[in-house]
Amino acid sequence: MSSYSMQRPNQELSAEEKEAKRELKKRLKRSVRRRKLEVRLQQAKTRKNKSLEEETRKALDRMDQESRSNGHDFGVGKVSDDPDRQGCGSVFFPAIEQIYHKLLQLVDSEENPSEKKSLQELKRIRNDESKTLLQNMTKGTQERVMFQNYAALRGYTRLKFNERAVLVADSLARVESLAKFSQSDVETSREQTVAGRLWEKLHQIRSLCSIGCGPGCDAVGVAVFLSKLKPRRNLERAVLFDWAMPDWSRIVHPLESLLLPLYIDSLETDSCNVLVDWSNEENEAARRLASDSRARSDQEISVDLFVTSYLLSETRERWHSFYDSLTDRAPAGTLFLFAEPTAWQLHTVIERCEKKMDFVWLDSSMHQPELQLLEGRVGPAVLLGIKRVESDTLPQKDCERFEASTR
Ligand SMILES: C[S@@+](CC[C@H](N)C(=O)[O-])C[C@H]1O[C@@H](n2cnc3c(N)ncnc32)[C@H](O)[C@@H]1O
Repeated sequence: MSSYSMQRPNQELSAEEKEAKRELKKRLKRSVRRRKLEVRLQQAKTRKNKSLEEETRKALDRMDQESRSNGHDFGVGKVSDDPDRQGCGSVFFPAIEQIYHKLLQLVDSEENPSEKKSLQELKRIRNDESKTLLQNMTKGTQERVMFQNYAALRGYTRLKFNERAVLVADSLARVESLAKFSQSDVETSREQTVAGRLWEKLHQIRSLCSIGCGPGCDAVGVAVFLSKLKPRRNLERAVLFDWAMPDWSRIVHPLESLLLPLYIDSLETDSCNVLVDWSNEENEAARRLASDSRARSDQEISVDLFVTSYLLSETRERWHSFYDSLTDRAPAGTLFLFAEPTAWQLHTVIERCEKKMDFVWLDSSMHQPELQLLEGRVGPAVLLGIKRVESDTLPQKDCERFEASTR
């Protein structure tokens, strides 16, 4: 089944295609149920709740037995095989959490005393305001003015900072297992070739650009991941962009003092807007920062890794021109990491960029190519791409096999 048939409405599909789609959705549902049990098992262990642990283990065994007898095997795709342990279990969590706690202390100590209310009242306001902001982000109805609400941004930071930083760090770490994972499966071998190239490239990252950076969590995820990958070498340069940078800077600027010089040598921030083309004058400052200071013009992009997390679904389909132009101008070898609540917008990224980029999925579908066609994932959808050199195509055999498998 091709991604094209997955995206067509059901009434346009043949009976065979409908059946294949239904089967894939069932597989995804089973994976989601399994994931829930795995999380419950993890929690039972942490809380030392022996009876719940045993009960959950039995439920997992039952589910696996049932799946095997029906000819479905979770195999290597089961979530527990991934380096991601969701949240607190991640190897990156302690470092991220430390940065987060220090950040909140700094941010709160800079708060204007005249604004001070009782802590309880502040917490309630931040919670309510951030929930409203989050609802608008999810529906894609956010407006620039909504970000001029500090309580909402502070609340967002408390709710999302750690989770999103861990998502970025864990996703990048998964490239290694994909590069090393070997199976005779056709698509996996294609992905393995790409993942090998990506893994090599990740060791060479010196500069990072976070687009729609919010409180800076994505940059923290990359910095902490790289600090473990190459403990003796800092990220040289990070540039953080957001259309609401004047508002987020109240959180992002204190973050600078926590990342420099321990993780990053230099950090700069500015506004950018993905609703207009990268070459639009609104993005002039961003273009200047994304180019090397020694470059002759701001047309030359000099960033090794671009990260975009939870922005494409928020700006649904209105980001095309910005990313078409950015990915056109980026030199070969540039990496692009995208994370979104579902794969909906990431399929569009692939469609628009497949002629110039190679991609791998770094989410629950990473070892299960058939499930990559779906919008749903167990957890967020994550895609990593690398800009190709003109001649840098996959070996002919891989291409032919890949095309055959998607036909
Ligand atoms: C859902 S938040 C994600 C923040 C962060 N990446 C994370 O994962 O937590 C979306 C971010 O994109 C920014 N944003 C929204 N529309 C934008 C646009 N048109 N151009 C650039 N940034 C935008 C918002 O200010 C916000 O910081």
